[in-house]
Amino acid sequence: MPIPIPSGDPFYPRRNVSTGERVCLPFMRSLPGQHRLGPREQINQNTAYLDGSQIYGEHACLARELRGFGGKMNATRHPTQGKDLLPISPSHPECKAPSGYCFIGGDGRASEQPGLTAMHTIYLREHNRLVDGLRGVNPHWGDEKLFQTARKITVASYQHVLYNEFLPRILGWNAINLYGLKLNSQAYYKGYSSTCNPTIVTEFATAAYRIGHSLLRPHIPRMGTSYNPVEPAILLRDHFFNPDIIYQPHIIDDIMRGLASTPMESLDQFITGEITNHLFEDRRIPHSGMDLPALNVQRARDHGIPPYNEYRSLCNLKRAVTWDDLSREIPAEVIARLRLIYPTVNDVDLFPGGLSERPLQGGLVGPTNPRVKCNSLPTIDLNAWRETAQTGCQIAGRTVAVGESYIPTPCTSCICTPEGAQCASLRVTDCDRLLREAGMEAVLEDEVCSSQCGEYLTRQTSVIPSVSLTTRRPRTHNGGFLPTSLVPPPPVRQNKRRPHLRPFDVPPPLLV
Ligand code: HEM
Repeated sequence: MPIPIPSGDPFYPRRNVSTGERVCLPFMRSLPGQHRLGPREQINQNTAYLDGSQIYGEHACLARELRGFGGKMNATRHPTQGKDLLPISPSHPECKAPSGYCFIGGDGRASEQPGLTAMHTIYLREHNRLVDGLRGVNPHWGDEKLFQTARKITVASYQHVLYNEFLPRILGWNAINLYGLKLNSQAYYKGYSSTCNPTIVTEFATAAYRIGHSLLRPHIPRMGTSYNPVEPAILLRDHFFNPDIIYQPHIIDDIMRGLASTPMESLDQFITGEITNHLFEDRRIPHSGMDLPALNVQRARDHGIPPYNEYRSLCNLKRAVTWDDLSREIPAEVIARLRLIYPTVNDVDLFPGGLSERPLQGGLVGPTNPRVKCNSLPTIDLNAWRETAQTGCQIAGRTVAVGESYIPTPCTSCICTPEGAQCASLRVTDCDRLLREAGMEAVLEDEVCSSQCGEYLTRQTSVIPSVSLTTRRPRTHNGGFLPTSLVPPPPVRQNKRRPHLRPFDVPPPLLV
């Protein structure tokens, strides 16, 4: 499905100046994956789970190749600083580096541009750093235990960043609360359903999540240790699948500081020329690049995605009959531009239609400028994974022997099993008694309690009467109390006033 260049294109010539032939942007259709006759369905190469497969590999063969010795990931060394870099390959099919080498990671795009390479490198280093730390607290652990434990911690922190920082930035807190995406600050998530199909919706991959292309800046900024700009910034077109720049001194750190402290481009219909005119171009051949938004539109057509107007009705918006019907969501000047391109309002493609909408309040608006010193970031205390001679569990700073239980907070009960601590939330049936037995302060500090007794607490002024948990709590070996049945609390009601909570506090890890 090559894309013909239309007449009047602001960048690409319509005809080849030497041959006079019509110019088209090359476009390969996605591989069909269905096994039977019926609607075409494409193959998704990556897992849909946020399982860190971009770090560890999306299939067992790649995972084996990426894994090194002693629990670590394979790495190469930075020539001047000696810090870990990703492994390299001389045979990456898309590699354009003059050195002939591209970095490889769990995802084939690790060398696509240096910002992405830096992110992959940071996760590789974090895994290897954790392995060193875990070996320090558990010198008797073997490779496999070290690897899997470091992997678990790395993937958990990656998921935490996505849910706690990235999604709220993209969707806004209203949507996060509305769809129940807010992380619990304590205890475990109880909503996992083994029957829920988590695979990626085609519309998400071919249009919706490609909004990221509008957020790109033409340059990847670099910042020094005191957040001073380091020149020159990295121009995207010079470094697509050409990661040789990563061998410059300090560059990973400079890129990470630059990415973290520079606002992204706003989410709108304007997309940098670096990817509309120069994507993957051969710098020696004029107009040899690709146009990513054009690929996005064509990809959605390749995958049979209906036009924008169809999705309006699916998303509770008015299905547009005239162009003016778009005016609540799309500014007038943008509608005027869409009218120049599409014959009718029914023809607007999903990707440009979605990008034309005004962003949701609190979502992708306003710049971020966090200049956080590394030593003020929360750290992971690996002592929580320390195995004692009796191989007990560390639960909230206390060593608990295997088979014994401990109640670290009034509404959470943990038992130490040979696999580690298993903790569960308790359901409160009598907030009165709970307050009397545990005390107001402890109840307010425990989100599992306070979310269940929120209404009761707000009614209370001074008198604090009695308590009870649903569960009978027989004595355990260590004299503590263990509930016979641990039941998850009911879902938190979003619109009720709740007592003071500390939603972003990271509690000490409970699992050993
Ligand atoms: C310089 C940065 C980037 C480059 C060069 C780039 C390039 C590409 C390319 C070439 C494709 C395949 C197009 C096709 O043939 O259909 C693609 C797909 C995609 N891009 Fe980007 N992209 C970048 C950044 C981003 C960002 C920041 C996001 C989101 C936050 C994003 C989300 C996606 C998604 C969801 C797909 C579809 C993936 C799939 O279905 O396999 N991209 N990108």
